[in-house]
Amino acid sequence: MRRKTKLIHGGVAGDPHTGAVSVPIYQVSTYKQEGVGGHKGYEYSRTGNPTRHALEELIKDLEEGYAGFAFSSGMAAITAVMMLFNSGDHVILTDDVYGGTYRVMTKVLHRLGIESTFVDTSDLTNIEKQLRPNTKAIYIETPTNPLLKITDLKEAAAIAKRHGLLTIVDNTFSTPYWQTPIALGADIVVHSATKYLGGHSDVVAGLVVVNSEPLATDLHFIQNSTGGILGPQDSWLLMRGIKTLGIRMEEHEQNTRKIVEFLAGHPAVKNIYYPGLETHPNHEIAKKQMRGFGGMVSFDVGSAEKADQLLNRVQYFTLAESLGAVESLISLPAKMTHASIPQKRREELGITDGLVRISVGLEDVEDLLEDLAQALA
Ligand SMILES: Cc1ncc(COP(=O)(O)O)c(C=O)c1O
Repeated sequence: MRRKTKLIHGGVAGDPHTGAVSVPIYQVSTYKQEGVGGHKGYEYSRTGNPTRHALEELIKDLEEGYAGFAFSSGMAAITAVMMLFNSGDHVILTDDVYGGTYRVMTKVLHRLGIESTFVDTSDLTNIEKQLRPNTKAIYIETPTNPLLKITDLKEAAAIAKRHGLLTIVDNTFSTPYWQTPIALGADIVVHSATKYLGGHSDVVAGLVVVNSEPLATDLHFIQNSTGGILGPQDSWLLMRGIKTLGIRMEEHEQNTRKIVEFLAGHPAVKNIYYPGLETHPNHEIAKKQMRGFGGMVSFDVGSAEKADQLLNRVQYFTLAESLGAVESLISLPAKMTHASIPQKRREELGITDGLVRISVGLEDVEDLLEDLAQALA
């Protein structure tokens, strides 16, 4: 099956009982048993629900893994994956991970004894330098948010394998349409499905795919024990969104290329961060492991005042957190998505007060270009 076909025919397609071409929403908490333990595969919806199962099968197929799991948010998914580790274990993470990932590691899991170190994983030597006897995993976000740095997944996974570590990849920005980390050696893929997979700013969800039976058993145990599952209605919405992922991702990319070209030639724009640019420091690796460069671009307008002015003037870019939806969004990472990262650390990372991030939507690109031109003038 090719990629757009798999989005529509992967997982559990339709309903064998009625012929309905869309998987029904099984809005149910419990299931009748014919005798004790005599059920038809489902006993209680925290443990398993047919609509959620269909979504979990779909994301498993798309990420080319062994099993999929759906959670109530990206953060619930990431937290569940981190519950695979024990007190005293250590995880190496990409330094400019999503602010919420940094927060859960340093403020919540840290209290439970799970240690973390944040390094620029786009330079692989940094990973080896941080290895400790208790290191259990490398957690990579690529491209990163908001600086769009790229880590070589094949090489990072090879380092992890040499040292007996798990490789975990947050694939939110690329989605399996552009990048399949398990095929490159990763063990676990996580998603904020709230973003491109859902695609319409109407659902908060998280997904995980693992590459082996033992990991699937452990993660299902955690999912069922901690209970942060996705409900049937949201599972269905996500499946509906995923059906059009291919055409959306292609169009996001087309629009973004034109916007990047415009920004690159604009005197008010200092730095542009986009992995599709030949001048991007990790462009060659991006070309090697991604089938497309995505719809996220960050650029520096020099100061908080100028960024503020731009944010106030744009008409078609909605000032909002989140990304990956049909409508274009604009945000100021230092004050929004990355506000939970201390200022000193933000400065070290290059997340300046003038850094603006846009998530390019599916509007006519001419309208988006005219809007940016008038706002930057
Ligand atoms: C890359 C990335 N990972 C994880 C998350 C967390 O996902 P959620 O907001 O669905 O909990 C986000 C949210 O913005 C994100 O951008």
